[in-house]
Amino acid sequence: MRILTVVGARPQFIKAAALSHAVAHRQAEGFAISEVLVHTGQHYDARMSDVFFDELGIPAPAHHLGVGSAQHGEQTGEMLKRLEPVVLSEKPDCMLVYGDTNSTLAAALVASKLCIPLAHVEAGLRSFNRAMPEEINRILTDHVSDWLFCPSGVALDNLANEGIRRGVHVVGDVMYDVQRLTMARLGGTNPVAAGLGLEDGGYVLVTIHRASNTDDPARFAALTAMVASIGSSVPVIWPVHPRVRSYLADWSAPGVHLTEPAGYADMIALEHGATAVATDSGGVQKEAYWAGVPCLTLRNETEWTETVDQGWNMLVGDRLEEVPALVSALDVVRGLDRPPVYGDGDAANRIIALLSADPG
Ligand code: UD1
Ligand code: UDP
Repeated sequence: MRILTVVGARPQFIKAAALSHAVAHRQAEGFAISEVLVHTGQHYDARMSDVFFDELGIPAPAHHLGVGSAQHGEQTGEMLKRLEPVVLSEKPDCMLVYGDTNSTLAAALVASKLCIPLAHVEAGLRSFNRAMPEEINRILTDHVSDWLFCPSGVALDNLANEGIRRGVHVVGDVMYDVQRLTMARLGGTNPVAAGLGLEDGGYVLVTIHRASNTDDPARFAALTAMVASIGSSVPVIWPVHPRVRSYLADWSAPGVHLTEPAGYADMIALEHGATAVATDSGGVQKEAYWAGVPCLTLRNETEWTETVDQGWNMLVGDRLEEVPALVSALDVVRGLDRPPVYGDGDAANRIIALLSADPG
């Protein structure tokens, strides 16, 4: 079986690491399986892309479409235009996509137009907020997918509610696979925090990149005021996503350390060492759960509802002025259980076994 995988954005490189290694294992066992990796170029800064390929041993993409940044329509359209000839020449048995970015949607449309069976990893996630571009991307992708690999039972239920039952498998979350392997080789170090003179348990980790938080100046100003307020009592480390880099060029606040986007292992170490995480990232919410660190989500809703149900994640939405006080009241959360709501860290092997058992 020849799989053509399309990636383009930071979290997809991390997810692809798990699957690419699982394909290599399966090959080593003598199965006729291979993967052609295509990078759309949606993320292109070295610290948003190359760093993950180098660090996680992901094979270099066989094709780089070089699409780069643009408005949603133009970006997605360019991806469609540049991906189709690649797929026609590669003639894969199936295509595989991750998550909910514009790269995911473009690849799903190409697969569907060319009648190539499509596998969607991280299927069934819903925020139930259709103003969010990712919600449309994931709904459309799920509806044209042949294999739908869900991280949890909630995702399976979401698909069933939309009438999607065929090809659905709950396999767990591939990000947990990667986090577990990375933890095993971290050895308790936390280089970014140490470089700033901070110790584990002595800082709050912040990330912000969602359009709903960054594109409205009033909302972004409220967020920076919140971060400054946390920083006045607990140090803050904020690895800055390039989307907000220019907004923060002239901004600073006592106790707040702005850094470059972190590499993956450095980020996992930062999460484990944080006293709390405040984020609008999907991946970081889950990683905080796996790390046993309380999370404050800077949104009104989340796709990762299990983390909220278990008490480890709180949606702060518009209540940003409450966040500094919440940060110092989170000790109670650390006593809670953390059941394995997103599987056992073997999702990638499960996906590859299912794909090779039923090659479309
Ligand atoms: C995208 C995904 C989002 C995902 C996030 C992961 C969509 C609609 N959004 O959001 O779901 O959570 O990736 O990080 O697909 N930029 C750079 N260098 C880069 C990449 C981006 O400077 O390497 C800047 C550009 O100004 C660009 C902006 O960031 O316009 C936004 O990038 P884009 O990929 O469109 O969206 P993200 O916010 O990264
Ligand atoms: N991440 C990283 N460095 C950073 C910020 C995030 O390596 O500076 C990792 C993070 O650990 C997680 C993934 O990137 O694995 C999440 O990506 P992001 O927040 O960009 O997107 P989302 O998950 O919200 O789609």
